[in-house]
Amino acid sequence: MKNPIPNSYLNNLEPYRGGKSKLSGIETIFKLSSNENPFGPSELVIDAYNKAINDITIYPDPLNDELINKISDFYSIDSKGILCGCGSDEILHLLARAYLSGNDEAIVSENCFAVYPLAIKASGARVIRAKEINFKTQIQSILGLINNATKMIFLANPNNPTGTIISYDEIIELHSKLPSNILLVLDEAYAEYVKVESHKNYFDLVNNNNNVVITRTFSKVYGLAGLRVGWAYCPKDVVETLSRLRIPFSVNSTAQKVAVAALDDQNHVINSVRHNTDWLSKMELELAGLGFSVTPSSCNFLLIEASSNLDFSADEVYDFLCSKGIIVRQMHEYNLPNFLRITIGTGEANKLVISSLKELMK
Ligand SMILES: Cc1ncc(COP(=O)(O)O)c(C=O)c1O
Repeated sequence: MKNPIPNSYLNNLEPYRGGKSKLSGIETIFKLSSNENPFGPSELVIDAYNKAINDITIYPDPLNDELINKISDFYSIDSKGILCGCGSDEILHLLARAYLSGNDEAIVSENCFAVYPLAIKASGARVIRAKEINFKTQIQSILGLINNATKMIFLANPNNPTGTIISYDEIIELHSKLPSNILLVLDEAYAEYVKVESHKNYFDLVNNNNNVVITRTFSKVYGLAGLRVGWAYCPKDVVETLSRLRIPFSVNSTAQKVAVAALDDQNHVINSVRHNTDWLSKMELELAGLGFSVTPSSCNFLLIEASSNLDFSADEVYDFLCSKGIIVRQMHEYNLPNFLRITIGTGEANKLVISSLKELMK
């Protein structure tokens, strides 16, 4: 008997593995493995969530009108260019499905977000990695890889898992040197956390060109990772193309309503970012003081290496932190086995990370 055969290019795809969220036998857990907001959503958002239960019997608005109009007002961008998805992950996958196939190539930075290679390979195309220096994206190395097969570039700025950022001017230069048929996808999942003074948003790059897409998410600073809402700002042609592909109700009605409320509560965003900025520098100093190599971050997490002067491997550090109820992210799937990625948590969680590491190093 013959079995159905999937597309051959799917054979070598490893499914995405998220950060662990449970530890057996430990009650109080601090999950610092997926860069969520440690404070969760605001009161206002919880109210909106409770009210949204009244609508769960009816299908959601397939056009996401209320949310799109809210995003459009908030960022002063054209509502016709906005597309919402079940997390920005959905939109990244839709982009790859729509613009890549067979012999195409898509360029990513060497240590890019794990979803890009998955989305690219799931379209049958090839992933081309551009060398980084000190975990920083190099636009010259991206430009050097462009050839006739290149159809897309996926770039997170700042980047996950490295936390590094490149300047606005570098992105503008990269775009100015791209052939116009190459789609540049700028993933700004961590935009709200950026504290670099010269940093600006790229909405005008979308307004003025047909080959730039920006993705954003409600999963990080807005504290809604479990509801799955993301969005993209795109040229109109791209919105039309993706609208043909997307399933009609990918953003559920609760998620649509709650995301609107989240945008209305900017105090929560400001407080969350302030906490992050304070703790990011404290954690950087503490971790470096303990002997880890710490990559400077513009996000809500730090990538650290259990460098050779330490007596412990990253796996040993990971296991010890787990024994204390702290879950950080191992980096094996990113091919960085001696690294860990640690989300900035509540003050209590951060202090526990440091005191636990001090105990280990004693
Ligand atoms: C760079 C980057 N892009 C996109 C996402 C996905 O976000 P969402 O929850 O909106 O799918 C993440 C999540 O970790 C991320 O780090």
